[in-house]
Amino acid sequence: MKTKLKILNLYAGIGGNRKSWGNDHNITAIEINPKIAKIYKDFFPNDKVIVKDAHKYLLKHFKEFDFIWSSPPCPTHSRVRKNCAMNRKDIALPKAKYPDMKLYEEILLLEGYFKGKYCVENVIAWYKPLIAAQERQRHYFWANFYISEIKLEPDHICGGSIDYFQKNFGFDLSKYNKINKKLALTNCVNYELGEHILNCALKGAKQQTFEALRSHVKNQNYQADLLPAL
Ligand SMILES: C[S@@+](CC[C@H](N)C(=O)[O-])C[C@H]1O[C@@H](n2cnc3c(N)ncnc32)[C@H](O)[C@@H]1O
Repeated sequence: MKTKLKILNLYAGIGGNRKSWGNDHNITAIEINPKIAKIYKDFFPNDKVIVKDAHKYLLKHFKEFDFIWSSPPCPTHSRVRKNCAMNRKDIALPKAKYPDMKLYEEILLLEGYFKGKYCVENVIAWYKPLIAAQERQRHYFWANFYISEIKLEPDHICGGSIDYFQKNFGFDLSKYNKINKKLALTNCVNYELGEHILNCALKGAKQQTFEALRSHVKNQNYQADLLPAL
């Protein structure tokens, strides 16, 4: 029998990571942009979709869920944005910005206080992650379970067309207007990866903490010492 989970999907976008989670779970999605939230609802009508600030929602509601996925905005951590800010002389540059520490606030909140399984996703950053992460495809994942390796094609984020991204991420956005389709699509986590991660969370019945991941991340040359002592 399948386990029916209460899942919180934060910073839901149009639902890339959620696409292959099926309809057996009870899913609540939080997205701040009403137009994007509407598209998510069209694709996943069974989910409860709330237009709110995900960071505030997490703090207030985390105890209500079994599994929490969070994808906080990545621009201030992104290598592409940073390299562009540093190197280009010929175009108007994106300004220097403080990396958004809400990412680490959420990881620590979940690691310290949440009893269920969690996965916080971001891009591979321009700096060594302040808390050791599991690197899969083009992402960093912070999770209290091991995410086994999975072979996936690259997403070809730089340079693909809208048609290519629609096929790659499995969303047809042709009927939608007045949204940045390329951004909505390239924001997506590959659905096979999203499904794989949920399966990994479901598989490991035993709760793993940063402590249990320490030996694993050591093999990945991260600074295991930076993991919080619990
Ligand atoms: C990187 S995308 C998430 C993509 C999603 N994980 C997927 O696989 O499709 C981040 C999303 O968070 C939304 N967002 C940004 N700030 C937010 C906030 N404070 N609360 C809720 N959503 C927010 C953006 O509108 C964007 O759709």
